[in-house]
Amino acid sequence: MLTVAEAVRQRRSIRSFKQIPVPDKMILDMLEAARLAPSGSNSQPWRFVVVTDAQEKKDLRRLCFNQAFVEDAGVDFVICTDLSAYSKEGYQKRRQESMDAGIVSASEIDDATYQRYIDSITSAPTSQITPATANTYIAAEHIVLMATALGLGSCWVGGISDHKAVRDMLGIPRGILVLGIIAVGYSDIEPKARPRLPLEEILLRPFPSPVDVT
Ligand SMILES: Cc1cc2nc3c(=O)[nH]c(=O)nc-3n(C[C@H](O)[C@H](O)[C@H](O)COP(=O)(O)O)c2cc1C
Repeated sequence: MLTVAEAVRQRRSIRSFKQIPVPDKMILDMLEAARLAPSGSNSQPWRFVVVTDAQEKKDLRRLCFNQAFVEDAGVDFVICTDLSAYSKEGYQKRRQESMDAGIVSASEIDDATYQRYIDSITSAPTSQITPATANTYIAAEHIVLMATALGLGSCWVGGISDHKAVRDMLGIPRGILVLGIIAVGYSDIEPKARPRLPLEEILLRPFPSPVDVT
């Protein structure tokens, strides 16, 4: 298995797969990697549907702007997020857990400024979408990196033409949003690395700082 550093460097988006099934053990390894991801206040909003059935993959392809690799992948992980993790009840449920773990004290949690912050998130589904999406994307990327470490190819699919149709097709309940798909399989290609911005362009101030370099 690749190290994390090797997986990060070697990963490419793979859009062409061999017609070989992905073993259940590997699928479970990828789900386990997702399950272990970090999340704000340990909210764990990620939910998944594992799609390996040929007809379901074909239907998903149709709902993803006909991107062929969605059908050709050995497995499609449909990446979903449960907004209820950011409801008042969701935060309330985790309150004791955070205190038991010694991460926060009762006075920190009950602090008026912190409560206003929590109220702003919990007051409307629209304010829950940002944390739900951000935290779920971290878990989804764990799937991608574990796939690479296992010698599999993968590609994120944000291009879904009809999210509601995906929900209906897979029987995903209300309150759980479909964010994307991670298509995974045995790669049929070895794509070159796509370009990346140079470090100077993504650093908002130089590092090491010029004054540090003597
Ligand atoms: C959130 C997200 C959505 C994406 N959606 C698609 C997609 O619908 N179809 C596709 O072919 N690639 C998709 N990609 C893959 C990107 O095009 C790819 O990561 C980028 O071009 C860099 O190439 P690399 O992954 O090979 O380094 C998506 C990537 C991300 C992170």
